[in-house]
Amino acid sequence: MTVSADTWLPLGPLDDLEDGERREVTLPTGKIVLLIHAEGKIHAVCADCPHQDTPLAEGSVEGTILTCPLHFWQWDIRTGEEVGIAELPLEIFELRHTDGEWFIRA
Ligand code: FES
Repeated sequence: MTVSADTWLPLGPLDDLEDGERREVTLPTGKIVLLIHAEGKIHAVCADCPHQDTPLAEGSVEGTILTCPLHFWQWDIRTGEEVGIAELPLEIFELRHTDGEWFIRA
């Protein structure tokens, strides 16, 4: 499968990802994405911290603020923007919901 920057990859219905839950998915590109259902909306962010690659699935989420468990950098998962002491933004991914199925832009 050829994956370009404009490829939308299916993620399935995600009906079982409840508000407050998160799940890692591996894209065909090899990139691992963390899906987070927060405040009624599903967000997709890079699963590894941009500081030292710590798995962000082990971090905490309060509202739409994700905190890395190692040095406590924080980001707003709606935008990937740094909050507080974070020095680098967090990569986020665009999601689309069509005909009951979710897609992520590679
Ligand atoms: S590894 Fe995440 S803040 Fe340092």
